[in-house]
Amino acid sequence: MKGIRKVTEDILWIGGSDRRLERFENIFPIPEGVSYNSYFIDDEKTVVFDTADISVSDQYLENLKDALNGKKLDYLVVLHMEPDHCSMINTVAALYPEVTVVGNAKTFTIMGQFFPETAGFNKLEVKEGDTLSTGKHTFSFVNAPMVHWPEVMMAYDDVSKALFAADAFGTFGALDGGLFADEYDFEREFLDSARRYYANIVGKYGMQVQAVLKKAAGLDIQMILSLHGPVWRKDLKWFIDKYEKWSTYTPETDDVVVVYGSLYGHTASAAESVATSLRAQGKKVKVYDVSGTDVSYLIGEVWRCQKVVLICPTYNNGIYPPMEAFINDMLALGVQNRIFALGQNGSWAPATVKLMTEKLSALKNVTILENTLTIKSALHGSDQGVVDEFAEVIAKA
Ligand code: FEO
Repeated sequence: MKGIRKVTEDILWIGGSDRRLERFENIFPIPEGVSYNSYFIDDEKTVVFDTADISVSDQYLENLKDALNGKKLDYLVVLHMEPDHCSMINTVAALYPEVTVVGNAKTFTIMGQFFPETAGFNKLEVKEGDTLSTGKHTFSFVNAPMVHWPEVMMAYDDVSKALFAADAFGTFGALDGGLFADEYDFEREFLDSARRYYANIVGKYGMQVQAVLKKAAGLDIQMILSLHGPVWRKDLKWFIDKYEKWSTYTPETDDVVVVYGSLYGHTASAAESVATSLRAQGKKVKVYDVSGTDVSYLIGEVWRCQKVVLICPTYNNGIYPPMEAFINDMLALGVQNRIFALGQNGSWAPATVKLMTEKLSALKNVTILENTLTIKSALHGSDQGVVDEFAEVIAKA
């Protein structure tokens, strides 16, 4: 039983934490690790909600065997077909061949694409509003398309009032012994990771997240069991409020994030000078070097901050490439409701303010401040007034 944690008397966490994976989805760095959560229901009929990533397979299978404690496995409910949760389906079905796999029509389409050999499994196809009774518990299914893939479902348990939320309300970060969010200082230990996870993984689908939040508002939810990160049993409203903000592209703070690109440090000096001036005007500021910061962290900061300052050199008559990649990511994720301030450096033909303005203009409900900053090669003492004015306009915007 060493890898199992009790969520309630008959709902067990049987997942695992991965601290070896360098990048989630082979894109996002996760120095904090990640957990793959799976939940076992010890009822008259036994149920598992999702499996786990292959990386934690040994621990997962041991947990499942311990949880079953000699019983047969009746149902494997697949809420999400992304392989970080479904990669053990075949193994589980091979070990427990009597199991019935539960999913919706899209679940089984994607399952067949990944694993053609699952065609012969015992299957139960469900749709929105259908229920699965296991004895004491009855689970109702709620479609949650594009949170984060089209087949995603959630399940609500009428006994524990738990919402099995698939990827929603998840976070990067391995579990450090605690299963419940209230066993941590979540705001200090997880919030940045949860925001980075949300913004990069689901950020594009704010409208779909809003649709699910509206459905969830009609349920008496007392626990949230995500597929990643801690389980919520207290202060759910605090975290749901974060999701309300994030999914409506509402800035979490009125802080300023300054992101610069700099070949030799001169644009960096200008960005630092802008940050100093913003601080002097009472603003909270974070400064990032676009070349040295993985773009997923910058995206997380865009979701947190109301104001985004971008300063970079012109490069090959275009935008400094790492900055362009960052802007492209904001476009791909559909950032909204932000105030942008732009600066540029060019020793002979600065053009990035114009080019960045053209790109950012495609975003909805954004303000691009007319007051911009232009440096010719390097910032000098005589430029202080211009920097202060640039910062003042940002602070007051
Ligand atoms: Fe955790 Fe969309 O998979």
